[in-house]
This record gives sequence, C-alpha cells and structure tokens, in this order.
Amino acid sequence: MARARRPGHHTDSSPNGAASRGPRARPTDAPRPQGDDDAPRTRPAIGDPPVRALDLPRPTGPRPVPREPVILTVEPSADYALLDSGAGEKLERYGPLTVRRPENQAIWQKRLPEATWDAADAIFTGDTDEEGTGRWRFPHEPRGETWPLVQDGVDYLGRFTSYRHVGVFPEQAVHWRSTEAAITAALAGGQHPVRMLNLFGYTGVASLIGARAGAEVTHVDASKKAIAWARENQEVAGLESSPIRWICEDAVRYAEREVKRGSRYDVILLDPPRFGRGPKGEVWQLFEDLPYLLSLTRALLSDRPLLVILTAYSIRASFYALSALTGEAFRGLGGTAESGELVIREAGDEPRLLSTSLFCRWTPDHV
Ligand SMILES: C[S@@+](CC[C@H](N)C(=O)[O-])C[C@H]1O[C@@H](n2cnc3c(N)ncnc32)[C@H](O)[C@@H]1O
Repeated sequence: MARARRPGHHTDSSPNGAASRGPRARPTDAPRPQGDDDAPRTRPAIGDPPVRALDLPRPTGPRPVPREPVILTVEPSADYALLDSGAGEKLERYGPLTVRRPENQAIWQKRLPEATWDAADAIFTGDTDEEGTGRWRFPHEPRGETWPLVQDGVDYLGRFTSYRHVGVFPEQAVHWRSTEAAITAALAGGQHPVRMLNLFGYTGVASLIGARAGAEVTHVDASKKAIAWARENQEVAGLESSPIRWICEDAVRYAEREVKRGSRYDVILLDPPRFGRGPKGEVWQLFEDLPYLLSLTRALLSDRPLLVILTAYSIRASFYALSALTGEAFRGLGGTAESGELVIREAGDEPRLLSTSLFCRWTPDHV
C-alpha cells in the first residue's frame, strides 16, 4: 500500500519543527495528532505495521536490551546555562548573552530577583504584529538577527527567531557529545569512513560536530531557510572543507530514496517535530510517520552501526513509547536501547531540572 503523504500544502520556509516545540497551528484538513483526547483513533498504533511505500522486511529476532528510564542532564557550562526558570519563563545564558523567553513547563517560582530577569540582553516579547527580531526586545543595545556562539569548541551563530527559538536546542548537547565520542572511537579503531545521517537537522550544530569528529555527514531538513543557516554555520565553524551534504528535502522521502539506492550509515540522528512539512508540501505527523521512518532508519544502518538517536518534543507520549517502537524496529540488531528524558539543570543554588524532551538512544554491543 502506498504511504499516504499529502502534497498540496504551501511550503513553509520557517523551521517548522522548531515551531512545533511551541504553539503551532495545524492545517484544518490534517488529522489531529494522536494523543489529543478527541482525536479519531484511525492511525496505526505503536507496534502496528507502518503504512509504507517501500515493502521493508519486518525485523525478527530479539529486541535490543532496554535500559530505562535514563535521564540525561545538561549541566551549566561556559557555552550555555539555564540561570533560572519559573512563572512560565526561563532565563538562559548563551555564551555571554542572557536571554529571557517563555517556558510553559516552568510552573514553579523563580529563584532570582525580577531585576535580574529584567536585565536580560534579549527578551522575547511575542508581539504578534511583528516578525523575526521584531518579536524580541534588546534593553541594552540594539542587536541583529544573529550573534556568535560556541558549542564544545564549534563556532556557530545564535539567531533570534519569531518563534522564540534561538537557532539551537541546548539540551541536545548530551547527544552531540555521544555522537562525537562514537565517531572518534570508531575512526580511532580503524572504521573508515564513518557516515552520519542527520534527519530534521535544523541549523546544523549536530552535523558540524559530527563533521569535526571526522564523519562524512548528510544533513536533511525541509526548510530552505534552515539549510541556509546551517551552511552559514559551517562557514562560521571553519568547517567549509569538511564533507557535509546539505539536502533540502522531506526526511521520509529522502530516507526512502536512500534505501532504494542501497546507501548505508553508521550514525543516524532523528530529531523530528510533532508536525512539519516537506518542501513539496509533504505532511510529517510524528505519530503517523515515525514508525515507518524508523523502519527506514533500520534499513539504512551499515553492517557496523555505531549510534542511533531519536528525540521527540512536545508530544503527549512517554519515552516508553519510543522504547517500544525502537525495540520492534531494531529487532535482531543486538545492542542496547536507552530511553528517557533530556533535562537541563539550573545553575546556582538548589537547582531544579527542566525537562525538555524524550529520547531513545541505540548503541551496538561492539562499542
Ligand atoms: C526540532 S528541529 C530540529 C532541531 C535540531 N536537531 C537541533 O537540535 O538543532 C526540527 C526540524 O525539522 C524540520 N522539518 C520539519 N518537517 C520536516 C520534514 N517533513 N522533513 C524534513 N525536515 C523537516 C524543520 O525545518 C526543523 O528544522
């Protein structure tokens, strides 16, 4: 049966997945995401065979060893710190710059005085009649759209977007570190080349870190704008000569084509939004499409795979769902599937943990 993708929606050049981490309109003709209480339950449940354009064999054999719950914590560092949170907001430091913006989960009290919050360098105002940096206020000095940032020694540009995002999701730092470690260890152990696929790659920090570690990277995102930002980041990072292929395409379509071509990857990262659109209007809905994409991911793994990391944001599901899904898709592959949450620890006294996302990280037995 052909996989139901629904072209015809206009192409949204915004980092649409990023927007899905916050409030976002759903097209009126799109099925409601599973998890909404009043949604019709017509789509495949986790564990059901996916609706597919490619007839992939159903994996057999034992599931990877599950390890859960695993809580991966981003600690305050010179590159990034969560300074405080509360009353529906968060106060962060990105390099030297302090940023104040909404955070729905912060239902507790702030610890720092209001004056500290008011002194932030950039404050998201959310003015609805503005776009881009117009939705931000810069109390101390006027600022452009971007500012220089560093992540574990990789330079890139932070960016004030109209979706209150800043061009990077700092909780991903733990994943970037395990990606770098896996690539470095494999190359040191004589595995060459190491090929990495970054699906839903956004502004490309993971791709840059993978490339710096020595991998041949394929970065896929549906947004032309995000691809342009990511390319700019490649220059800022001084990694122009590193082998990164920037692909503006729907993640599922690209993965299907790669499976047909017989391409294989050692490291695959997937950071899908709850809802998104491909450049040709293809609709991505996590609950409908992730099982199929994970089957494609499985088909794309090399004979000596190193790492698969799946992260999910803003969905009404548990990491147990990601665990069960990965367990089925990766039957017979061996290894371990760790599932849990990515959290950020506040800096300072009596820090709280801010939960950001769910993840499942698969690693093989041979590392
Ligand atoms: C949440 S962001 C990923 C963040 C990134 N991994 C990081 O940590 O910086 C989701 C990205 O998915 C992209 N996207 C949305 N729908 C897509 C689709 N159908 N195919 C490919 N990319 C898509 C968006 O343009 C956005 O850049």
